[in-house]
Amino acid sequence: MAQSAPQAEETPFHLGGNFAPIAEEFTELKLEVTGAIPPELRGRFFRNGPNPQSGWSPHWFLGNGMLHGVALRDGKALWYKNRYVKTPLLANPDAERVGADGSFDRELSYANTHIVRHAGKILALEEGSFPFELNEELETVGVHDFGGKLTSAMTAHARVCPETGELLFFGYGALPPYLVYHRVAKDGTLIQSEEITVKGPTMMHDFNVTRNHVIFMDLPMVFDLDLVAQGGLPIRWSDDYGARLGVMPRSGTNADVVWHEIDPCYVFHPLNAYEDGDKIVIDVCRFPKLSMELGDGEGSPPMLHRWVIDTETGRVSEQQLDDRPCDFPRVHDRVVGLKHRYGYMAGMADTAGMGEGLMSLGASLRKHDLETGNSVTHELGAGCQAGEPVFAASPGAAGEDDGWIMTFVYDSARDKSDLVIIDASDFGKPPVARIHMPTRVPYGFHGSWFPDEH
Ligand SMILES: [Fe+2]
Repeated sequence: MAQSAPQAEETPFHLGGNFAPIAEEFTELKLEVTGAIPPELRGRFFRNGPNPQSGWSPHWFLGNGMLHGVALRDGKALWYKNRYVKTPLLANPDAERVGADGSFDRELSYANTHIVRHAGKILALEEGSFPFELNEELETVGVHDFGGKLTSAMTAHARVCPETGELLFFGYGALPPYLVYHRVAKDGTLIQSEEITVKGPTMMHDFNVTRNHVIFMDLPMVFDLDLVAQGGLPIRWSDDYGARLGVMPRSGTNADVVWHEIDPCYVFHPLNAYEDGDKIVIDVCRFPKLSMELGDGEGSPPMLHRWVIDTETGRVSEQQLDDRPCDFPRVHDRVVGLKHRYGYMAGMADTAGMGEGLMSLGASLRKHDLETGNSVTHELGAGCQAGEPVFAASPGAAGEDDGWIMTFVYDSARDKSDLVIIDASDFGKPPVARIHMPTRVPYGFHGSWFPDEH
């Protein structure tokens, strides 16, 4: 996909305001702090997002990945750095990601969506490509294909099981096989890959894991190659495709998948899933309908819903848990796939269409108590917007909300961003610390807190 801008086109939402890319890679060792950084926080907060090097991209999802990172130790912010993920696509922006036969060059990655750590490797992920490994200083090490064993793309939403240490993920594509499931052992060895049959070329952004199962979401956002000529992403809502959830044992095969029909919808991001006897509970940010153009005002914004799959009867119940738009949900890493009580997410303005809603993503942050049904809102103040709330546990603490929420907050009045640290157990209170960045940090996608391992 060529990276040059078309002539005389209006600036799309993803290239304006704080969505716009920044040009410089900073290394800042003297960071001002308001408040007090908890001394227990020893590690690195890294967040990924698109930052098109040329200044232009055809879609929010298609900019070169840039990591923004802050290192914390002993109550101090040691550094802020932002670095491009140095993939071959960054060096050669006019390279064609898709060959004449429709196949993808999986090393031509934007690597712009998420960052996870597993078996000592830090991996920048983007769902059309192979992962790229980075070091703790955010320098790119290179492509990582699990010793040549990875044969598909890799979702950005790989899950580390807190009980077994396994890394569970899948890859999807516009051409067969449309879906491949992968399981990686705690030591980083890819030990299982299974082709899974779905109805067609569905855009599967994320999935669900529980203690014993994985659950695929076969939803009606599908590739339509007739849209290629329009530029952007050739993916559209289908009224005919249907929607279903596929439950498979974590070490199972395609033959073991049990599919359950649900009402049509789209979900980029589940909060979490867990098993409750014969039932599987999945909390998601559910769009009733989605337009791939995102900012065009079509479709409706996502809201928190709960699916309960009864594996005995095959029925799925669906319940709306909240009537305020939200997305980018996260739980404590320790409860991934296990019963969660708390969920954290970015709020959006309560608007009918998706255009304004997306522009307001992160105008507040919310903590939901799924046990009591209560929620607490963290207000950010006028002109301020946050990103995904990432949970950083208090070392050695037992409680599920013993820790902090970390996220970059953009302040439009200063045109700068702060890394904000909020006490997760006292979520409505002002942040305990704001670490002031030397730049604005463009709105991006997903991040992680990596506690020091040494
Ligand atoms: Fe995502």
